[in-house]
Amino acid sequence: MTMQTLVPKVGLSGAAAVLIFLSVGCQKSDEPKKPSTGDKAQSAKPVAEPVTASFEVKIPEGLPPLPIPKDNPMTAEKVELGKMLYFDKRMSKDKTVSCATCHDPKMAWTEHRATSKGIKDQVGDRNSPTVINAAYMTSQFWDGRAATLEEQAVGPIENPIEMGHDLVAVCAECEKVPAYKENFQKVFGTDVTKEGIAKAIAAFERTILSGNSPYDKFKAGDAKALTDAQKRGMELFMGKASCSTCHAPPIFSNMQFYNAGVSCDKKNPDEGLKKVTKKDSDMGKFRVPHLREVANTYPYFHDGSVEKLEDAVAFMAGGGKDNSNLSMLMKAVRGAGLNDQDKKDLVEFLKALSGDYPKIDPPKLP
Ligand code: HEC
Ligand code: HEC
Repeated sequence: MTMQTLVPKVGLSGAAAVLIFLSVGCQKSDEPKKPSTGDKAQSAKPVAEPVTASFEVKIPEGLPPLPIPKDNPMTAEKVELGKMLYFDKRMSKDKTVSCATCHDPKMAWTEHRATSKGIKDQVGDRNSPTVINAAYMTSQFWDGRAATLEEQAVGPIENPIEMGHDLVAVCAECEKVPAYKENFQKVFGTDVTKEGIAKAIAAFERTILSGNSPYDKFKAGDAKALTDAQKRGMELFMGKASCSTCHAPPIFSNMQFYNAGVSCDKKNPDEGLKKVTKKDSDMGKFRVPHLREVANTYPYFHDGSVEKLEDAVAFMAGGGKDNSNLSMLMKAVRGAGLNDQDKKDLVEFLKALSGDYPKIDPPKLP
């Protein structure tokens, strides 16, 4: 999968003109390296899928073209199948948990808990990120350990504290459900396979997009789409506060990994990227979360340790928390010396990143 996105000029005036060139697989930052994922099964082997009606994803205003892997084309049937699997609790060992449990469409495709609770009420140590716009991220998870949505999708099913199931068993069980058996034949021309499950769920996730926000409308020429406070917040965000260095528009993430010091003083702090790369220099680095719908995706940070957007912004605006690996870029934010009014304006601006996203009901399951 390769994609090149040209991000248009940002900000109100020429002064804020930033031209950012994002290219998948090309690291532009000094600090981070994309972790090698090593372990996972999904190879990019092209599979000849039966020809079904192709499916045009409607890309909301303000979002770039959607990266779609060549070996997983979008079809209407595949998206429908992925939607069913996404909501099906039978995918978990004790049939109590589905993807939607922790990534609930009614909670902006995340959940309003600090860290997730999986089967048998087991609690994990990370906050569930929203599925909204995950299709644009060049790696998945807070530590980027999965490269693609396909690779990500089967992880939670086998994760002992999330869904705790065995993929061979999941496939065998789905095979016994006539509608699933039939649909896999129709969509992939195969029995139920874990590759098929991963591809169908990933295709469905690629339809969960948010754009067309007040920010996007403003960028498209509607000068009234933002309030004065939001305009001030935007100028700070793109300018003096340098938030956009990491939270780069239009997705509001540069997809890189940094140490911002969140919870670094906890007893056993999360190692973040270091868990994947084993390098000390990656201690406490996390992938920059995108900020679209951020007003609705509370609580915040990798461990959900901050409940309110105001407090998350105050933490970031203060340059994070000191530790031996704190990013230079966070120190630069601190150097900007943002005052209380600036922080309020930044919060108002972030609210302008909430737009339209699919609020769908669970489908009827076979
Ligand atoms: C028990 C709660 C739980 C369940 C069930 C669950 N997830 Fe997650 N999901 C999480 C958590 C927590 C993370 C972050 C984990 C990490 O970064 O280590 C995550 C990460 C993700 C991400 C990465 C998003 C990003 O921006 O990096 C995607 C996509 C995702 N899940 C989709 C799914 C799908 C699809 C399913 C069903 C097959 C699923 N999840 C089931 C809790 C859950
Ligand atoms: C050096 C890169 C960098 C800069 C600069 C930066 N951030 Fe962040 N931001 C991050 C990272 C990394 C995280 C996740 C940290 C974690 O969870 O440990 C984050 C998290 C956030 C979150 C929480 C999002 C969520 O879904 O949990 C908000 C809100 C936020 N940043 C706003 C801002 C604002 C506003 C600014 C400017 C004042 C800013 N950031 C500057 C890297 C950066």
